[in-house]
Amino acid sequence: MTHLRCSVSHCETTLDLHDRALACPKCGNLLEVAIEAPKTGVPELKRLWLDRRTSNDARDASGVWRFREFLPDGYGPAGIVTLGEGNVPLVRGQKTAAWAGLNRLWFKHLGWNPTGSFKDLGMTAGMTEAKFAGATAVACASTGNTAASLAAYAARAGMAGRVYLPAGQASANKLAQALDFGAELIEIEGSFDDALNILLEKADPNLYFLNSINPFRIEGQKTAMFELFEQLEWRVPDYLVLPGGNLGNSSAFGKAFMELKRYGFIEKVPRIVIVQAKGANPLARMWAAGATELEAVAQPETDATAIRIGNPRSWKKALDGVRFSGGRVMDVTDEEIGEAKAMIGRDGIGCEPASATTLAGLRKLVASGEVDRDAEVVAILTGHALKDTDYIIKSRKAAR
Ligand code: F0G
Repeated sequence: MTHLRCSVSHCETTLDLHDRALACPKCGNLLEVAIEAPKTGVPELKRLWLDRRTSNDARDASGVWRFREFLPDGYGPAGIVTLGEGNVPLVRGQKTAAWAGLNRLWFKHLGWNPTGSFKDLGMTAGMTEAKFAGATAVACASTGNTAASLAAYAARAGMAGRVYLPAGQASANKLAQALDFGAELIEIEGSFDDALNILLEKADPNLYFLNSINPFRIEGQKTAMFELFEQLEWRVPDYLVLPGGNLGNSSAFGKAFMELKRYGFIEKVPRIVIVQAKGANPLARMWAAGATELEAVAQPETDATAIRIGNPRSWKKALDGVRFSGGRVMDVTDEEIGEAKAMIGRDGIGCEPASATTLAGLRKLVASGEVDRDAEVVAILTGHALKDTDYIIKSRKAAR
């Protein structure tokens, strides 16, 4: 049976799947969902997942739930809270590829999800579990995107949504979404990290907690990698590059690679490259120093407000994925992010600032010779261009 277990493998603590604990009762580390070997063969499952794209069943039409053999399941078709998330395109980089010096660059645009960010992939799984648990109110701390996503899915589930945001730091577009979907906004003086601490300290039993330390969120986000391999006809690219904030998404992708390799869907995995913003770079610093513990950045600062995070909770899980894949962690300046974001716009794709860390990082890795020009590279765009319109208008004014 699918169950929860401690994410630190030598701890070996296991819990019931629906236990609402967020940390291992024995060692305090984060929990994860343990996925059993699928009962169907590999070629049959690959075929079935693809076939489901032509089905109108709500679970099949979701780019998350059509991979349900690798998800906590048993909710039944009526139990799923979905907005038809996932199934987003893989777009070839043109001007961006030339700018970074690459011949084979792809963007997987997770910003083209219902609320405009990758958070929807995790939120459908988290909200489905919240509903199963009988929750009537859900909450998260957020730099904006999780708030927008939680608000939409809570509305669908008929639950009250409450979002804790660092005052004056989330983009107006994201706030507007959360308000539009009817969530209650609580603004905290301080950073995202402070907002998360305040929420966690509350430990209100009437509030179901939906940040990415919730292991169900990670399961939903994981499916982006299943869909990516499917789009590449199960060819494995050399690199998978993504932005790092609280490091939930990096953890999710690492988990996907481990499971798909263990159960024989792929023979090797792409190297995971996590890119942080220089002013909010605790994992990149740790990586550069070869340290064994993460030191938080007390006052994170970057114009890429989505990733203005100094104390990422999922750093251990994320690092496991980077090491497993032979990847690395790095950082880029706000100026480099700005240039890369403008290029992604000129390529007709667009993204929010945090997502542009990927192209900025890639350009540096190709210039230094670490990434070969002919490598096949997939960059993850995490948020839609319209997520932070102030940033775009301000950049244009500055360029005049
Ligand atoms: N990109 C965007 C657009 C984000 O909104 C986030 C995180 C990240 C990247 C980083 O992902 O935290 O999994 O490493 N946004 C969160 C939020 C923190 O509240 O919306 P991560």
